[in-house]
Amino acid sequence: MEHRDPDPLRARPVLITGAGGQLGRALAEEFEAEEVVALSHADWDVSEPAPAGLDPGLVLHAAAWTDVDGAEDDPQEAAAVNVGGTIHVAELCAARGAPLVAYSTDYVFDGRKREPYVESDGPNPESAYGRTKLHGEAAAGERAWIVRSSWLFGPTGNNFVRTMLRLGAERDEVAVVDDQRGCPTYVGHLAAATRDVLELPFGIWHIVADGECTWAELAEAIFAEAGLDCRVRRITTAELGRPAPRPAYSVLRSEKGGPTLPHWREGLRECLERMA
Ligand SMILES: NC(=O)c1ccc[n+]([C@@H]2O[C@H](COP(=O)([O-])OP(=O)(O)OC[C@H]3O[C@@H](n4cnc5c(N)ncnc54)[C@H](OP(=O)(O)O)[C@@H]3O)[C@@H](O)[C@H]2O)c1
Repeated sequence: MEHRDPDPLRARPVLITGAGGQLGRALAEEFEAEEVVALSHADWDVSEPAPAGLDPGLVLHAAAWTDVDGAEDDPQEAAAVNVGGTIHVAELCAARGAPLVAYSTDYVFDGRKREPYVESDGPNPESAYGRTKLHGEAAAGERAWIVRSSWLFGPTGNNFVRTMLRLGAERDEVAVVDDQRGCPTYVGHLAAATRDVLELPFGIWHIVADGECTWAELAEAIFAEAGLDCRVRRITTAELGRPAPRPAYSVLRSEKGGPTLPHWREGLRECLERMA
């Protein structure tokens, strides 16, 4: 009689790293019907090896150094988390025979293309953050799904939507960059799609919201949806003068038939409803 392994999702817990972050929280909610071990930064600093006693059936690795500008000043520390951390997570997965979902970013691309980046496009990160995330992808091992997403926002944490809601309530006008184009992705939609990824072959998958826009267009949509009377003054990336370079164009799409997400504007509405 054929022997079949029990479904790893049911036999052992789903471990989430970075569970206090915006994606980590959404993943904990999405998988709450399963047994979940949600570890925040305080529970496991991933720049250190895994604490003893963990026995996951699946790891969703959402912990990362996400301070893009800060990584330019401290690339070693960013690498300790984004590369070293992924090595430690992959070691735990190998030891327990658990597959891994590792989240990565559109910032692995240089942004010179003017049509969507697909999985087979060659990465060429221009920021320290992007380089650490690309090396982190390589560290995830062979039994891993690398999920590249972009411009994440959710009801908690530091993100553009929350910043604009605060500024829009305080000011008549905000200056926002209008020469970077991407796909703002709601963490609830990415968490739900993570479930679909588990049915796919290991490897790189581009999973972002449908549609695309600039940061200035996103800010206008936020003010319109939230009913805030605040103007958006469109500026350039050079005018803003942030330390880290960002891709001018980083729309991602899957050429492999990966899961598709709702439009970013629908994600925005869902996020605002959650925050209300
Ligand atoms: N945010 C985006 O726009 C975006 C876009 C594309 C891809 N991604 C990727 O998506 C994933 C999730 O990002 P996110 O937006 O949810 O980021 P986030 O809200 O900043 O969450 C990251 C979490 O990782 C934790 N963390 C930082 N250093 C850690 C360490 N050494 N050990 C353990 N935990 C640590 C943070 O905890 P503390 O806050 O306590 O340090 C935070 O809770 C990351 O892989 C990120 O690179 C993000």
